[in-house]
Amino acid sequence: MKLTRTLAALLAFGLVSTFAAPGYAENGAEAAVTYYKDVLPIMQDNCQTCHRPSGANISGLVAPMSFMDYRETRPWARAIASKVESREMPPWFASAPKGVFENERGLTDAEIDTILSWVAAGAPAGDMAHAPPARRFAEDANDGWSLGTPDLVVKMPEPFLVEDDIYDLNITFYRELTEDILPEDTWVKGWEFRVGDNAITHHMCSSMIEPGAFIPEGAVEDEGADTAGSQLLSCVAEGGEPDMLPEGFGVLLETGSSISFNMHYHKEPAEGSSVWSDPEIAFWVADEPVEHQVINDTLYNRGFEIPPNHPNYRVGSSRVLEKDTLVLTLWPHAHLRAVAARYTAFYPDGTEELLLDVPHYDQSWQVTYKYKEPKLLPKGTRIDVDFWYDNTAERASRRSFDPNRFVGYGPRTDDEMSLGFIGYAEVDEPAAMPTTDND
Ligand code: HEC
Repeated sequence: MKLTRTLAALLAFGLVSTFAAPGYAENGAEAAVTYYKDVLPIMQDNCQTCHRPSGANISGLVAPMSFMDYRETRPWARAIASKVESREMPPWFASAPKGVFENERGLTDAEIDTILSWVAAGAPAGDMAHAPPARRFAEDANDGWSLGTPDLVVKMPEPFLVEDDIYDLNITFYRELTEDILPEDTWVKGWEFRVGDNAITHHMCSSMIEPGAFIPEGAVEDEGADTAGSQLLSCVAEGGEPDMLPEGFGVLLETGSSISFNMHYHKEPAEGSSVWSDPEIAFWVADEPVEHQVINDTLYNRGFEIPPNHPNYRVGSSRVLEKDTLVLTLWPHAHLRAVAARYTAFYPDGTEELLLDVPHYDQSWQVTYKYKEPKLLPKGTRIDVDFWYDNTAERASRRSFDPNRFVGYGPRTDDEMSLGFIGYAEVDEPAAMPTTDND
């Protein structure tokens, strides 16, 4: 059997800790690698956004264990070594491209080595005087909102009681933006969801529905957030993050439009398990002038049927761009059977470019890939979005679904989806286009 670095680290850990007091080498000098000096800075930059006390509103990102200080971190040392060595933590699922997405996560080889050496040395604390100042989070100072103090907060018409007997419920509520909520059409540059401090909200998706479009009376079950005449704002699930658009870009929020709250609740039914759900969506108004209207759109395929027990079934969709387009975000969305996702651009000159490759798709991590610089795709470019699905008993045993049936498009966790979300602005005036890095 191959002796992995973790195993080596653990063996060393066992040996070293028998004769070295934590934090100090044998001769009393401070150990080479310590928590305060070397490891805490890495954890502040790469782990603490998710690994901090629950209750923080971080849109579903919060991890079940907090790594804010030595006391909290030390018991997890071995798990940390193994998760960083395997590159499972920090989570990031795109194998390509590298360096183009603003929210890309990952440790350098040097950072991984530092963590492994630290664990190998018995995970010593070291001298607290070497610690960097504690990391501050924007939401600590802004009433729980990470993007700052919002200009507008929209709620459902009333809080919803998720009753004792509810196990799995997908339900959509609607709120019209009447004149007293939104007196005039407004360009917004950012939005953030707050689902409340409860563990029962599996996901929340929200769309803007244009004025005059049909809005059901009351709440509707098993209806996605994406009804006709609607535009998705975002979704939060594990891995979701708030959105702030670059300077000059905005989304138009119209008076008389409606906001949908598509909620997926999931809990163990029991007496006394009822929870009130009162989600909020905050908006930040854009600084004028807004040059680029952002549309959140979807390339989708709803006409598929994945055969029972098929190990690698592909579902694709594609679109040809009618105008020069600046792409801001990509978000591949599918369910339990999806194992890989890919976006590819086929340019009018015959060349092609891999826009996003997610070779190990994981439904529980819904990541929106955000370009650092808007990506220019010229008019006539064809975008293909492909998903691959594994509908076998082997995967079903780990993800719990029924592999013995045809699976098509649907909102339930046991249905499938094949949605290639894309946030973009069409460019009418080529002269006004910002230059991008990749030109
Ligand atoms: C985007 C959010 C996020 C970031 C960033 C993140 N984690 Fe996690 N981490 C999670 C979540 C959520 C879980 C629990 C679910 C899971 O295990 O997949 C988790 C679980 C873990 C676990 C526990 C695994 C187990 O054995 O149960 C370890 C250890 C861990 N993370 C280490 C790290 C380290 C070290 C970093 C930084 C280098 C990091 N994580 C960054 C979200 C994050």
